[in-house]
Amino acid sequence: MKTTLVGLAAGIALLTAATNASADEKSELMAKGQKVYTEYCKTCHQANGQGMPNVYPPLAGSDYIKSMPRKTIATEVVNGKTGKVKVNGKEYNGVMAPLPAKYTDADVAAVLTYVYNSWGNPGGVWAAKDIAKVRKKK
Ligand code: HEC
Repeated sequence: MKTTLVGLAAGIALLTAATNASADEKSELMAKGQKVYTEYCKTCHQANGQGMPNVYPPLAGSDYIKSMPRKTIATEVVNGKTGKVKVNGKEYNGVMAPLPAKYTDADVAAVLTYVYNSWGNPGGVWAAKDIAKVRKKK
């Protein structure tokens, strides 16, 4: 009985450690992502993710982000996006240029984690390997 309890306690300790590690990872991603966002995305999508009427679509509570596959969003952020797009009932038809090459896969994973976990968006953590898969081969 005693050994079972000790085993259980050790198990719980391990579990807690694992949860903390991923929480730390996430807050690191969020901090780094906010930096990238402020440096690059903010010019168009604004600090609060609201975008600009008729010009830049919102990222805050975006039904487009919510309904599109994560891979599509990553592809568009990395490789650029043009053509009509409807976000929260309003149509936009602009150009988002490809992301400057100086932003690494890890930078993109961080900024997407930041966007997905801000302003009522669906959440979830991104890894650099998710981004490597969608980068266009040059
Ligand atoms: C120079 C302006 C500009 C910058 C910088 C920019 N975007 Fe965009 N973004 C746009 C435009 C314009 C569209 C709509 C393109 C279209 O009409 O097809 C868009 C569309 C989007 C969309 C899909 C539509 C939506 O609102 O859900 C996402 C997601 C997005 N951008 C994320 C980002 C992220 C993340 C960054 C920073 C890494 C970024 N953008 C940087 C201009 C920009």
